[in-house]
Amino acid sequence: MLNNKDIVWHSHLVTKNKRSHIKNQKPCILWFTGLSGSGKSTIANAVESQLLELEKHTYLLDGDNIRMGLNKGLGFSDEDRIENIRRIGEVAKLFVDAGTIVLTAFISPFQRERDSVRALVEEGEFIEVFIDTPLEVCESRDPKGLYKKARKGEIPNFTGIDSPYEAPSHPEIHIHNNDVGIDDVASEIIEHLRRRGYLHA
Ligand code: ADX
Repeated sequence: MLNNKDIVWHSHLVTKNKRSHIKNQKPCILWFTGLSGSGKSTIANAVESQLLELEKHTYLLDGDNIRMGLNKGLGFSDEDRIENIRRIGEVAKLFVDAGTIVLTAFISPFQRERDSVRALVEEGEFIEVFIDTPLEVCESRDPKGLYKKARKGEIPNFTGIDSPYEAPSHPEIHIHNNDVGIDDVASEIIEHLRRRGYLHA
């Protein structure tokens, strides 16, 4: 068993403030949450593209991609989802420390885990973005054909079917993603960042 008592946090000369200062931005986590097929990744991609045009420094952590690398081997039991989000939270925190605006697109179905990530960073650094798309709409889109499989019983513990999704109680941004343009939604999120002082001129 590893003895964590003998590990001491090392403070560095180059701080988060100095890193974000030269990037002209206030770092934060834009935490997208919602059902599979709700549009999290698509919207996060559009927001990241608009931020790039504004010459902001970003990084997008995306559910399926992270599960192919860092979180390879984690499944979809409650326990594995909790560990999935815990690791993403720690990685996102490092990106914030690097002065980056980090976007994450994970179902992240449990309020407690989302709150744990919020608690990892400073006040104002966690922005919960609820992509609120009704299950029927996600299921009719079914971009990866997974709902069809889940209904046939071929994917156990599928979120919204036989695994729960806890909608955020107080998200900073609430998007009703049914019949709205992706670019308009992305602009609304950018406007939120601008108004709250994350994007310095
Ligand atoms: S989370 O619940 O742990 O946050 P995450 O966002 O990483 O989930 O992964 C979700 C993606 O994995 C879905 O978009 C879908 O493509 C795929 N997937 C595979 N099996 C499941 C399942 N049982 N429930 C939900 N999504 C699944």
